[in-house]
Amino acid sequence: MSRPYKSYFRPEIDAMQGYTPGEQPKMQQLIKLNTNENPYPPSENVLQALKDLDMKRLRLYPDPLADDLCDLIARHWGISRNMVIAANGSDDLLTMVFRAFTSDKLAVSFLEPTYSLYKILAQMQHAEIRKIKLTGDNFEMPSDILEQAKGTNLLIITRPNAPTGNSFAIAKMREICEKFDGIVLIDEAYADFAEDNCIDFVKEYPNVIVSRTFSKSYSLAGMRLGYAVGNEELINGLYKLKDSYNVDLVAQTAAKAAFADQENLVKNCKKIKETRAMLYQALRDMNFTIVPSETNFLFASPPDGDGERYFKALRDEAIIVRYFPGEITGRYVRITIGLPEEMEKLLKVTKNLI
Ligand SMILES: Cc1ncc(COP(=O)(O)O)c(C=O)c1O
Repeated sequence: MSRPYKSYFRPEIDAMQGYTPGEQPKMQQLIKLNTNENPYPPSENVLQALKDLDMKRLRLYPDPLADDLCDLIARHWGISRNMVIAANGSDDLLTMVFRAFTSDKLAVSFLEPTYSLYKILAQMQHAEIRKIKLTGDNFEMPSDILEQAKGTNLLIITRPNAPTGNSFAIAKMREICEKFDGIVLIDEAYADFAEDNCIDFVKEYPNVIVSRTFSKSYSLAGMRLGYAVGNEELINGLYKLKDSYNVDLVAQTAAKAAFADQENLVKNCKKIKETRAMLYQALRDMNFTIVPSETNFLFASPPDGDGERYFKALRDEAIIVRYFPGEITGRYVRITIGLPEEMEKLLKVTKNLI
């Protein structure tokens, strides 16, 4: 008789659901606007660097510290090399940060709604979660955020936020970093599409980590590359926690080439911001409620406030956006900014639906 299954998992792992990544449909011929990828290809530099890569080097381990890449990043932001760590996507960084700063005795605060992975990482750590509800139609930060986060060890501010798309006043961010007695992680996955950012905070505040990704603005979601900057002690601590070779050779090669081409980055972000403005206005003209966005997506609610119905109707027309069930989020869909012609198709379909 075979032995019956019995779980030896930690109870909190058995109890949790696990993260559901945005769908990556196999269907061809659809307009994919559901995971905030960039509609433009990566820089020509990347394509060339990958062509030039000596494939024989794949038998060797990559540089465990991704030094060349981190040097480039440090120089660009005017900080020392010891203030940078590279990772296998910013998700990898988030994992390190949760391992480092949360436990069953060390709680975490983050916004609501926000990036859904944080909750899963907290559950893995068996850490208490303090949710800070954003307020009003534009999902603003509550003025008493410091009160609400008090006593937790890690406070995550996603700026600009996902899935809502809005940013938060820089003065408020300063106040939080100055006064919060714990680590402030500023997740800047979308900052290249925003008006400003908090990278320079790491020169002033020893409790601040800023994370970035190559997945969105650098068009390298398939490569899995992210990085964080912060005070040397913080970054040193994260190095203790990272997988030995967390960024592979191909990703390091691609990321160096992409980062070196800042001109391409600026050009693509500008195009996306122009398309975003066009889509915003056109949907507003159709009576959508839309959160002002500083990202490469719009959080938009159709006139009848039924996000799920709109999501399904678009899907029937082979347009995939993201829907987040919930009392408030369920009124909206999140639409990634694609090519202008993809947005035209979305608008045409939407006009027919409404
Ligand atoms: C706010 C936020 N942080 C981090 C990530 C993860 O990005 P990466 O692809 O670098 O793991 C995402 C991805 O959608 C995100 O929305």
